[in-house]
Amino acid sequence: MSTLAGKHIVLGLSGGIAAYKAAELCRALVKAGVTVQVVMTQAAEQFITAVTMQALSGRSVYTSQWDPREANNMAHINLSREADAIVVAPASADFLSKLLHGGADELLSLMCLARPLDKVPLIVAPAMNREMWHNPATQRNVAQLKADGIHVLEVGQGDQACGENGDGRMLEAGEIMQDLEAFFADKSLAGKSVLVTAGPTYEAIDPVRGITNLSSGKMGFAIARAARMAGAVVTLVAGPVHLPTPRGVLRVDVLSAQQMLDAVQQHVGEADVFMATAAVADWRPANMADQKIKKDGSTQTPQLNFVENPDILLTVTQSPRAVSGELFCVGFAAESHDLLAHATSKRIRKGVPLLVGNIGPATFGQDDNTLLLVDESGARELPHGHKQALAEQLIADLAQRLQ
Ligand code: C5P
Repeated sequence: MSTLAGKHIVLGLSGGIAAYKAAELCRALVKAGVTVQVVMTQAAEQFITAVTMQALSGRSVYTSQWDPREANNMAHINLSREADAIVVAPASADFLSKLLHGGADELLSLMCLARPLDKVPLIVAPAMNREMWHNPATQRNVAQLKADGIHVLEVGQGDQACGENGDGRMLEAGEIMQDLEAFFADKSLAGKSVLVTAGPTYEAIDPVRGITNLSSGKMGFAIARAARMAGAVVTLVAGPVHLPTPRGVLRVDVLSAQQMLDAVQQHVGEADVFMATAAVADWRPANMADQKIKKDGSTQTPQLNFVENPDILLTVTQSPRAVSGELFCVGFAAESHDLLAHATSKRIRKGVPLLVGNIGPATFGQDDNTLLLVDESGARELPHGHKQALAEQLIADLAQRLQ
């Protein structure tokens, strides 16, 4: 379940071409179980209609401080008192400037000014041309808004509606959703640094062929995202997978087990926690052919010799920081049967305080899973659920262990 479920959010739109993304954001919020009250400035109405936003939010939209629907005619007070947060997306350069100065000449800015500071956070997603974004006036405003306690989301980078290319695009709806979900999550790993391995490895046979496995990386990516949501600094060493990088996570892409070990050794020094979710190939071809191995018409099939790959987790658990307990290591086990017995013996063999077991064939590539948490005192099941939900439960469990 999303951390946003059950929340009431006032979604404010100021004027900007990114207003079309607000429609998608509204839809995503509603899908996550949020009740959304849309408030639009007159400028926003130049870009998208209140009809669209009403249809997507299922609530009539407010566009004026003189809205007679409110019995006391104080929409700015009533709307802001009900909200768990006000999210302004897009937040134009002009709207940021207005917020900074406490302007209140239309409903959205009036409502932001009138919000109870201790109860209703204000989150803004800036959207503007790159020159406007980099203008010292805007940068000054952003710095002061942050100092005033307003949560200013990052801007995206790329092609802009004006034809230029650079910083200032509003984040995509999915990115804003991730930031909002992180905003409402418990910061149980604040100040911690977490290193995660995820996905399969790829062991080359020749320049066009290799050996890999069915791991999708979804569980590891979900764990990296959950750790980030919990406030940790997260590095994700990823084998070859087609998954988007979770927001705010440093991703290091690798192919082979040896490259994964090298990347882990490069980053593990700063980590407080190492979580090895990757399905690392146990063996690799002893020699990679320089050229594609061709069929030569004979009946002779190619002979492959294998050498054992390094065990990344075991290498880390045998390091002095892990042995002293300064680095907390979590291992994973993908089994096909007898999960408890295999996970229990693997925990001891790998020398980890916590080993997380799952049934590989049942979960590879799927969006859901069941986890078995095995430690020295026994086992606890995290029942079947979405990998993201399980990852968040696992991170909550981990945070308690670190206390
Ligand atoms: O030995 P096995 O592959 O079953 O162990 C699984 C655990 O060990 C996982 O946490 C996996 O990421 C890690 N592992 C590793 N390096 C290897 C093999 C497994 O880090 N070469």
